[in-house]
Amino acid sequence: MNNIKIELENIFSFIPEESLVSLQPEIDRHYASLWRKTGAGNDFLGWMDIPSVFEKDLFRRMEEDAARLRENSEIFVVIGIGGSYLGARAVIEALGYQFYDLLENRKYPYIVYAGHNLSEDYHAELLELLDKKDYSLAVISKSGTTTEPAIAFRILRDHLEKKYGKAEARKRIIAVTDKAKGALKTLSDSEGYPTYVVPDDVGGRYSVLTPVGLLPIAMAGFDIRKLVEGAAGMASHSRQAKTIADNPVMAYAAARNALYRKGKTIEILVNYLPNLYYLTEWWKQLYGESEGKEGKGIFPAGAGFTTDLHSMGQYIQDGMRNIFETVLSVENSRNKLTIPKTEDDADGLNYLAGKRISYVNRMAEKGTLMAHIDGGVPNIRISVPEINEFNLGQLIYFFELACGLSGYMLGVNPFDQPGVEAYKKNMFALLGKPK
Ligand code: PA5
Repeated sequence: MNNIKIELENIFSFIPEESLVSLQPEIDRHYASLWRKTGAGNDFLGWMDIPSVFEKDLFRRMEEDAARLRENSEIFVVIGIGGSYLGARAVIEALGYQFYDLLENRKYPYIVYAGHNLSEDYHAELLELLDKKDYSLAVISKSGTTTEPAIAFRILRDHLEKKYGKAEARKRIIAVTDKAKGALKTLSDSEGYPTYVVPDDVGGRYSVLTPVGLLPIAMAGFDIRKLVEGAAGMASHSRQAKTIADNPVMAYAAARNALYRKGKTIEILVNYLPNLYYLTEWWKQLYGESEGKEGKGIFPAGAGFTTDLHSMGQYIQDGMRNIFETVLSVENSRNKLTIPKTEDDADGLNYLAGKRISYVNRMAEKGTLMAHIDGGVPNIRISVPEINEFNLGQLIYFFELACGLSGYMLGVNPFDQPGVEAYKKNMFALLGKPK
């Protein structure tokens, strides 16, 4: 089943439709090597099968752990960075009530993140908050050795043990890490923390549908089975659909590569809903880390409209013409809210009285699309009927598969990230880390 629609007509004034169609043989070749697992990075393709082979028992374990910790926690701290952080946050923020932190009677713990930055103030203020709240935590690190989450875990473990005592602290910690190696695995074994495994053949940025993402998402009270079901539907649709015309994954990979080859080196993923901010952040990591290598790659940028039309709008309309937009559009909102009529019409808005805000947002999207095309910005539109677990699962799998295909079209290995080691080497030397 596929709930994702892709519309490409607004790139055809920039590249002829035939040039896209002519990419089909190239797409077929790379797509086959993805599914047959014969291309570069083929030992990191475990994420492709996850939705269809997901163990029911693993769902049950995560749901039970989440239920157990919910009983005694007002706050759940998720420690992780990059691929061990962004996917969970993207889904939790997309599905969540936007003012959850201010609600008085919360049904589920409030999710707080740590280990994704090195701000002393951030972590000190978090500890101040946790002094006053009951909490538990998940520490998520595939390698089990990443500096930022390791520092956060050391601080929080110490805090937890002082607050509750060692035995109780052990019951409030869950680790998600490698099945056999890394400092976190060793520590978890010696302390007896419940652990979940990050599969060997799934890289960080492709890991949201493993316990890396699913455990925090379950903890926040969302339906992880529906999320994986959505991804499974997208996997089976994508496997069967054979052409750019009927396969959105092929269409997206073809369109962005065709534009890139015409000098459009920056892609802006645009949304019109603030709760999709972290979905864009997740997408930026997925595409940036997968494609930006060997001097190649589309630079992935993000914008939230209409907010950013009042900041980045000028550049997009009129700046250097090396950009294209991919608009992620959601057809239906969760709530209904109409604009009220006023007696005096002092603000001149009575012409909108009785109209829903989503209608105005839709018109903003249409008007922006026309303006940006006139301004020389090709536009890809991806739409889903609404934001729910199933559709997010579809979007996640869609973007992951398209990323693999797109990376192959670009001529890079979309499943490694050699470049991220460079800063670490320098930082460790400066910090005097023992060899
Ligand atoms: O995608 C990646 O590989 C990275 O973003 C990692 O997820 C990130 O560096 C965190 O790594 P780890 O899970 O090993 O702590």
